[in-house]
Amino acid sequence: MPTAIPLELFLDVATEAALAAGSVIQQYYGKLESIEEKDGSGNVVTEADHAAEATVLGVLQRHFPNHAILAEESGASGLASSEFLWAIDPLDGTTNFAHQFPHYAVSIGLLIEGVPQVGVVYNPYYDELFRAAKGLGATRDRQPIQVSTTPDLEHSLLATGFAYDRCTTVDTNYAEFCHLTHQTQGVRRGGAAALDLAFVACGRLEGYWERALSPWDVAAGIVLVEEAGGLVTAYDKSPHDFEARRILATNGFIHAELSQALLTIQPLPEFAPEGS
Ligand code: IPD
Ligand code: CA
Ligand code: CA
Repeated sequence: MPTAIPLELFLDVATEAALAAGSVIQQYYGKLESIEEKDGSGNVVTEADHAAEATVLGVLQRHFPNHAILAEESGASGLASSEFLWAIDPLDGTTNFAHQFPHYAVSIGLLIEGVPQVGVVYNPYYDELFRAAKGLGATRDRQPIQVSTTPDLEHSLLATGFAYDRCTTVDTNYAEFCHLTHQTQGVRRGGAAALDLAFVACGRLEGYWERALSPWDVAAGIVLVEEAGGLVTAYDKSPHDFEARRILATNGFIHAELSQALLTIQPLPEFAPEGS
């Protein structure tokens, strides 16, 4: 008989790592000494990102030395052939954090054979903890959560984001933002993808879409949304694919309508980079 996968243990260890990293992050809040740009694109990294990542890795490696890891700042480590892959964003919303805009989180997801199965998203400023594991449901501060039941776009509040490459691509997401702002009760740009997904999971938002995301941005949030009863796919409703780097996550009720909108909106030509 195959051994049962201890999802609860994974969830508890991910929680331990997220809480520990959150307390490290808070030690730097308002006290940053260095804010560096990673690649000249406005993608910033601080000493808090590095310290939080070291904390998460320390906890995970102590418990699971044979698992694989993909972390935003240090990349791949651990046993590459493992069926268990931890996708870690030690500080999602670094730009917010650097400006003391208190909307940021630690995001830790576990993929088992490529499928996201455990997710923890923790905002240390508000001490708000989102957790989920496949088949075990989703919680906020240990209380069960569910997606909203809002049935249509017209009555929805959405979120999205604009990737760091927005000044060098025609695919800016600006047209989608404008159109959907007209068609809904509003579109928020919170600046932390993991929290956008957590907010869909707990019903604060009806839906979220974004392009150019990495596995560490969304792995944990995907589990939260699915376990809270929502739907996560590609823009065209096909299965979500980490390599395509686009995500559409909703309460399920507005999924078809939002997908249809995203597939038909044309880019705004006035924001095309020079020479394109
Ligand atoms: C970013 C945030 C932001 C999203 C960007 C991400 P980071 O992550 O999640 O909301 O719009 O695409 O890269 O750089 O703060 O970890
Ligand atoms: Ca991120
Ligand atoms: Ca980050």
